[in-house]
Amino acid sequence: MRSVTSVFFGGGTPSLASPSTVAAVLEAVAGAARLPPAAEVTLEANPSSTSASHLAGFRAAGVNRISIGVQSLDDAELRMLGREHTAAEARKAVEAARGLFPGRTSIDLLFGLPGQSRDAWAQRLEATLGLCDDHISLYQLTLERGTALAAQVRSGALPAPPQDLLADMYQTARSVLVASGFRHYEVSNFARKGALSTHNLSYWHGDQYIGVGPGAHGRFVPRAEGGHSREARVQTLEPVAWMREVQSQGHGTRSRAVLSPLEQLEELLSLGLRTDEGITHERWGHFCPQLSLQAVFGQPGEARALQQEGWLVLDSGGLRCTWAGLAVLDSLLPDLLLQLRRVLGAARHPLSGGPAEE
Ligand SMILES: *[C@@H]1O[C@H](CO)[C@@H](O)[C@H](O)[C@H]1NC(C)=O
Repeated sequence: MRSVTSVFFGGGTPSLASPSTVAAVLEAVAGAARLPPAAEVTLEANPSSTSASHLAGFRAAGVNRISIGVQSLDDAELRMLGREHTAAEARKAVEAARGLFPGRTSIDLLFGLPGQSRDAWAQRLEATLGLCDDHISLYQLTLERGTALAAQVRSGALPAPPQDLLADMYQTARSVLVASGFRHYEVSNFARKGALSTHNLSYWHGDQYIGVGPGAHGRFVPRAEGGHSREARVQTLEPVAWMREVQSQGHGTRSRAVLSPLEQLEELLSLGLRTDEGITHERWGHFCPQLSLQAVFGQPGEARALQQEGWLVLDSGGLRCTWAGLAVLDSLLPDLLLQLRRVLGAARHPLSGGPAEE
């Protein structure tokens, strides 16, 4: 029987669920595949729904890692973000979680809030270091259309943070966290004492995963259904419709598409380069046995130019970004994808069939 290496309860506010629901889901997983005791089982929690007793219930249910949406440790910023919790509640939630899940409590933080200065951000980071455990996810605020905050920025009531300030804040965070022993192991993620997220690494490595729940995405080879190719699957987005479909047809899968070999490599490139390790030769060879990393990116072309400019490295470890490249990855990818398509298109023997999946 196949083994599951991680389970992630995320999206929305799974901490609002009762521990018995979480236990039932884990039982279903364990009934369908092997779920070893060492598997990483993460639950995303909001500070406003994270009492110590609730957390203890999740632990008893089988959760062994908590990710808390702290976002900020400043009440004015939290109000601006429209969050329900206060900084004091966030602190309490993190302390409770650390007590129950020592070394396995992650926090999410936002930077680049309208009007936030570099100094204010540096202060937030210092405060965070006094509170956090061994994993931090750092996100630049994106102004989502339709939110009050986006409207205020668009109308000019709040200032939009300038690009160079955002870059400076990211750089500051990296320096402060690295100086405190954190490894910057992915564009937005920092871990110390080896507390990397197994689950999210599996996305960046191009492993297989099943997404369950409204709007969830999956990538896997449906062997049980006789499939041999990696598929992209998406479940129905609207919760009520999703539930109805599960009840009537036994699943909420809305769309499924076989990924072509080129599409698989495009995903591997876009996701793998997000990590500090990058794409190893072994992992590349798993998806593309016909052409080595060297054969695709070692030739004169975009990738070589990016290496010469100091954004990219291709060596015995594989293909990866330099730190400077990681900070601007989104602007490097179009060039790399162009070279990938050109070299693959020119390959005498077009890639056929799908890559082998264990
Ligand atoms: C990790 O994966 C979960 C589940 O897909 C997602 O909700 C979460 O945002 C991811 N976290 C990071 C740090 O990428």
